[in-house]
Amino acid sequence: MPKRPILTVPHPILKTKSDPVDSVNDAIRAQMDDMLETMAEIGIGLAANQIGMLNRVLVMDVERDGFHTGPICMANPEILWSSEEVSQMDEGCLSIPGQYALVERPARVKVRYLDYHGKIAELDAQGLVSHCVQHEIDHLNGILCIDYLSSLKRKMIVRKVEKMKKDQEVL
Ligand code: NI
Repeated sequence: MPKRPILTVPHPILKTKSDPVDSVNDAIRAQMDDMLETMAEIGIGLAANQIGMLNRVLVMDVERDGFHTGPICMANPEILWSSEEVSQMDEGCLSIPGQYALVERPARVKVRYLDYHGKIAELDAQGLVSHCVQHEIDHLNGILCIDYLSSLKRKMIVRKVEKMKKDQEVL
């Protein structure tokens, strides 16, 4: 199960909407395995376009305060319901390393998706899991958490990430 390189802003694939998968076959399962491996110990969620693939696949593995979802793999996720109540949280993103954006979203959502075995499944999410799944579904639509910020703040963050990448190349 190889790790894949993670694309960072301002890569244009991160701004591109992904297409649904026809079914969850062995190739999609291998992709899900690679994605879990890629984000292991560095993140809690990853969407396919972050590794350069434009299909509607995401993985999550959320752990906080003694609560652990375990690995969750989704294909073609759809938000069926979202609460009126909202929640604000500082969100990070592996494609925007070292930066955070305060994002307001519906506090709770119900998501329907195809699981690792291609079966229809549903997730009722709140708290960090809710932010995470909405953040990853945004990725599939070409939307980043920094898109909720002012354009000035967004540009500053992209410049910081570009500079960090450049400094890393020099080292
Ligand atoms: Ni992200």
